[in-house]
Amino acid sequence: MVAALFLWYAENARDLPWRRTHDPYAIWVSEIMLQQTQVITVIPFWEHWMHELPTIKAVANAKPNKIHKLWEGLGYYTRARNLQKAAQTIVREHGGQFPSRFDDVLALPGVGRYTAGAICSIAFNQPMPILDGNVIRVLTRTFGIAKDPREKETNQLLWQIAEELVHRAHDTKAKNACSHLNQSLMELGALICTPRNPQCTICPAKKLCLAFREDRIAELPNTGKRAAATARQFIAFVIDRDGKFLVRQRPAGVVNAHLWEFPNLETNGEKKSPAACFKLHFEFAPTSLESLCSFKHSITRYRITLEAFRVKLSKDLKIPAGTWQTKRQLERLAFTSAHKKILAHL
Ligand code: ADE
Repeated sequence: MVAALFLWYAENARDLPWRRTHDPYAIWVSEIMLQQTQVITVIPFWEHWMHELPTIKAVANAKPNKIHKLWEGLGYYTRARNLQKAAQTIVREHGGQFPSRFDDVLALPGVGRYTAGAICSIAFNQPMPILDGNVIRVLTRTFGIAKDPREKETNQLLWQIAEELVHRAHDTKAKNACSHLNQSLMELGALICTPRNPQCTICPAKKLCLAFREDRIAELPNTGKRAAATARQFIAFVIDRDGKFLVRQRPAGVVNAHLWEFPNLETNGEKKSPAACFKLHFEFAPTSLESLCSFKHSITRYRITLEAFRVKLSKDLKIPAGTWQTKRQLERLAFTSAHKKILAHL
């Protein structure tokens, strides 16, 4: 399997910007961005980040607003805050040099076993295993593992297989063997051994693959039943006065903490009119409301519909308290992705 993966990877690996470097800092940033986000989305964010913050020290010293702005659109912002915390740890405890000991990497905020393994194997060519969704799919199919990979014992078995593969790769003494073995597993999962319609006929591992030989591809991995998605509805109000818009910053500890948004509330299933929702929120009635735009988007298991209304207030009405900003000022703040779309409509 190792030999087949090496040959295939040499011919088929995508030319991704973080594959042109051995800088552990650059590879770390790519791995954190790739944790919840697809390669195609990550590329421009990674390039912009590396341009704006070329060193660990620059991350450690950056203003939190800058970190948020660079992450705007990637979601799961805890990742960005942990990157900064970890950069500060590296400056404080490792003199600003990215650590190369696995345990030191694993101790950084936001770095788990997968990410530490990815950084140590890709940047330092250490024989450390990785196991993520792509690799789980490749291994459960190749080795015909029918138990739920999230169960402890099966998960341990998969880590063991990943470890044995990277050790065997290391033993070949080929250049960048551990890096290429691990990335070939990810790449195979991303390009060939996909969740639906895998391209088994051109797979380098098809002769070895138990699931292919036994026609069990569609059954593996066995991830059990997923929780059903929940629909949620939100209404947002775009209120402007003298060229400024009312916005607010989300508090700490909630989803999308610290990001900016227009005033909004969840309306789930209630049949209240937009004006009634406004009154519920602001405790006075708007002069007029006009539909501006509406979007659907998904985060984790929620399918969210967001409807935005443009609100006119009469001059003598009281003005809601909060942060009032011009459109240009808003464009410099980090907004949640859904509210950024509203901003684009103004
Ligand atoms: N996903 C996670 N890490 C990756 C990498 N180094 N290349 C491509 N996809 C990835």
